[in-house]
Amino acid sequence: MGESLSGGRGDGVGTGTLCGMKPKVRKLWLVLHVVSSVGWLGVTVGMLVLALAAFDAPQLYEAMSLLGDLVVLPLALTALGTGVVLSLGTKWGLVKYRWVLVKFVLTVVAVVATTFSLRSGLHEAADGVVGAAGADVLVASCVSLTLYTFNTVLSVFKPWGRTRWA
Ligand code: HEM
Repeated sequence: MGESLSGGRGDGVGTGTLCGMKPKVRKLWLVLHVVSSVGWLGVTVGMLVLALAAFDAPQLYEAMSLLGDLVVLPLALTALGTGVVLSLGTKWGLVKYRWVLVKFVLTVVAVVATTFSLRSGLHEAADGVVGAAGADVLVASCVSLTLYTFNTVLSVFKPWGRTRWA
């Protein structure tokens, strides 16, 4: 693993806090963050499988549309929200470390794409407005999976050091 939270300036070591966030509070936020963000990754695998099956069974778009609204979107917003809270509440900051900044930008792009493109595409497919949305959903799921896996790798290895704003 890269840089740890127990080193460096401004990490609150000796005060029992990490830039204002108490260790137990940070761990609770971290649990919520990992559950939501990795859950988002998991449900994307489910979407991929459903998108493949929907080529032969278009009625599955209804289930995918429900999953998009009730599972994917809440998980995406929770992953982004808890990530921002953790960044601002610890020494990592939102723009101080390259790995955090890259995750932030990629996740904002993914949340916007999920909200406005994936969900509306699924609603149209479920309503029968568009005939074959399968290929689009398939591509979107593959891109999303790659992105979330990349974010997970960044979170564990924490590469590339500090930015000029650190
Ligand atoms: C798909 C999106 C995301 C995934 C899959 C993801 C995954 C993870 C994982 C697995 C960890 C735990 C790493 C460890 O403890 O070794 C983590 C920690 C962290 N993530 Fe994310 N994350 C995502 C989005 C974000 C966003 C958008 C931000 C910031 C805006 C962010 C900021 C952080 C920070 C600061 C930590 C370290 C927290 C700490 O150790 O106190 N993450 N993330």
